[in-house]
Amino acid sequence: MNRPQTRTIVPRETIDEVRSRSDIVEVISECGVVLRPAGRDYKGPCPFHDEKTPSFTVSPQKQMFYCFGCQTGGNVISFVQKHEGKDFIETLEWLAGRLNIDLPNQDARGSANRKRVTSLEDLNRFAVEHYHNQLLIDRAGASAMQYLKHRGVQLKTLRSFQLGYAKSGRRELIKVATDKGFTIQQLIDAGLIKDEDRGPQDRFWNRVLFPIHNERGVPVGFGGRSLSEEHQPKYLNSPATVLYDKSNILYNLDKARQSIYKKQHVLLVEGYMDVLMLFQSGIENVVASSGTSLSENHANLLKRFAPEVIIVYDGDASGFQAAQRGLHRLLAEGLRVRIALLPTGEDPDSFTRQHGSDAFMELTGKAINLIEFQIQAAIQQQDIHRIDVKTQVVKEVVETLLNLKNRVEQNEYIKYTARELHVEESVLWQELRDAGFKETRVPNQRRRAKTGNQKLTPRAQIERQLIEALIQSPALISNVKSQFHYQDFTEPDFVSVAQLLWEACTDDKNVDIQTLINECPDEKLSAFISSVILQKTPPPNLQVRVEGCLKKLQHFLLRDLEQRVRSHALAEGADEMETLEELVKLSNQRRALRDRRTVDTRSENPNEGGS
Ligand code: UTP
Ligand code: MN
Repeated sequence: MNRPQTRTIVPRETIDEVRSRSDIVEVISECGVVLRPAGRDYKGPCPFHDEKTPSFTVSPQKQMFYCFGCQTGGNVISFVQKHEGKDFIETLEWLAGRLNIDLPNQDARGSANRKRVTSLEDLNRFAVEHYHNQLLIDRAGASAMQYLKHRGVQLKTLRSFQLGYAKSGRRELIKVATDKGFTIQQLIDAGLIKDEDRGPQDRFWNRVLFPIHNERGVPVGFGGRSLSEEHQPKYLNSPATVLYDKSNILYNLDKARQSIYKKQHVLLVEGYMDVLMLFQSGIENVVASSGTSLSENHANLLKRFAPEVIIVYDGDASGFQAAQRGLHRLLAEGLRVRIALLPTGEDPDSFTRQHGSDAFMELTGKAINLIEFQIQAAIQQQDIHRIDVKTQVVKEVVETLLNLKNRVEQNEYIKYTARELHVEESVLWQELRDAGFKETRVPNQRRRAKTGNQKLTPRAQIERQLIEALIQSPALISNVKSQFHYQDFTEPDFVSVAQLLWEACTDDKNVDIQTLINECPDEKLSAFISSVILQKTPPPNLQVRVEGCLKKLQHFLLRDLEQRVRSHALAEGADEMETLEELVKLSNQRRALRDRRTVDTRSENPNEGGS
């Protein structure tokens, strides 16, 4: 991310327009966070960390958000950046697109590239609609319709998933798409046609098509189901394209994300049909890995919406193995994972059709965690009482425990394992240590900005008051700036914030805190600024407070200076008279400050009386 550069590309006015017209409450809700009104603000479960009580606060008035649990905060742009994993420009484009605002002045290459991507997205949208109409309207779609009906897919489901049908011809899509103005090259780039010796051919023919969308609902590819045994492969998928990289796509995440977020867990299945049938029976927090092995990207994608994954893979050997592999991958990324076991020969689709959605829910409710899974599998498969078998199982379990990021879970699993395998807990801990586990390997704590009073020196507490007052009332910055250098703060975080404030404060304009947040180079600092903005109402006499803080800090500075002069004189054996004069001058200044401060305090309390 290179913000200084992007700043020069999109004019400030455009950024301001996009930001001010993007309502933060609307945008955050659209991103799947369930917000409820709480006084003048909104509250909800924080999408950036696990929590039970909502400490994620959004202020429509101030157009800021802040989480008191994980100290994440910012404005609507920072939210989208963080939540959607976009850089600054992508975020602006996304927000601008939402508002139908054109972003002018993009750099030529980036803009050409984005145009290319947009045109492929348009082509995909066109293809989705075309194939969907073929299924619903065209006579040739009747057999596919029959097939889907036979499999129990209702009309509303195939509409909501925009299922389609590709006819048997090999140049059907080519014809309509080029008529519409798309080029052969675009069709190839989108993976919709193949360039063969006989000339370009449609990739999909005589197949039911499942459009695949990314998590934002943009169609990026297709999965095509053949209608007969003879026509292989059973499923033909789009190749990798600029838009479609299967290592970061999960089928149905766009439709499921709200529900995943609400339920705080996601059901992970193997196939398109599994998703469809569950969705149809009211279970919406479901996505499919579509036969690919899970990647770190998949895990991170899911982690944005919920902390827990329940894997419901097919009840066969390959499903079992895939589940086991997936489980390790997800665990390694810090997700909680459980596995629901289906009866042999069943998949979620067949199971739900046969036993209903309640039975399916019951099954997922009984999903077991990895350790249970490993131990139960071992107990079922072999004679766990044999020493060599038990040793082997302990070894496998220990390896899993080593991968766990959550300490509490690790502890719980150790207890469970000890109980089930009749092994002492201390033995398991020893095995863990032998396998390379270090007690000190505590999960990285998010480094917090020193926003609380914890460990702040009295001087830094005054610095904090000053900085907070300036953020809450930016009009006061220019006066302070003329009297105090930002490097004179003792707390490094305050130096950085002050530098931002000082630099943003130019003659012609007041500092705009929203802009400051966009241009803030450090997430920690913008979160700090947001937290200050979201604090309750600032005290009424901010100006008095600012002046008071300033005096006190200048007092500290003069004292530093006196000390330096003194030690300098001692070390250098400097001219005594000169040093003395300087010291007198400094202490006079200091006294003057103190006296003025007394006057200030009195004028704050006119009722106190006295002269
Ligand atoms: P399955 O073989 O379990 O298919 O593959 P399914 O989902 O149960 O499909 P139906 O019910 O037979 O129609 C699971 C997933 O693996 C991918 C597809 O995404 C499929 O949904 N797959 C399977 C392929 O990509 N290619 C194949 O040839 C088979
Ligand atoms: Mn299946």
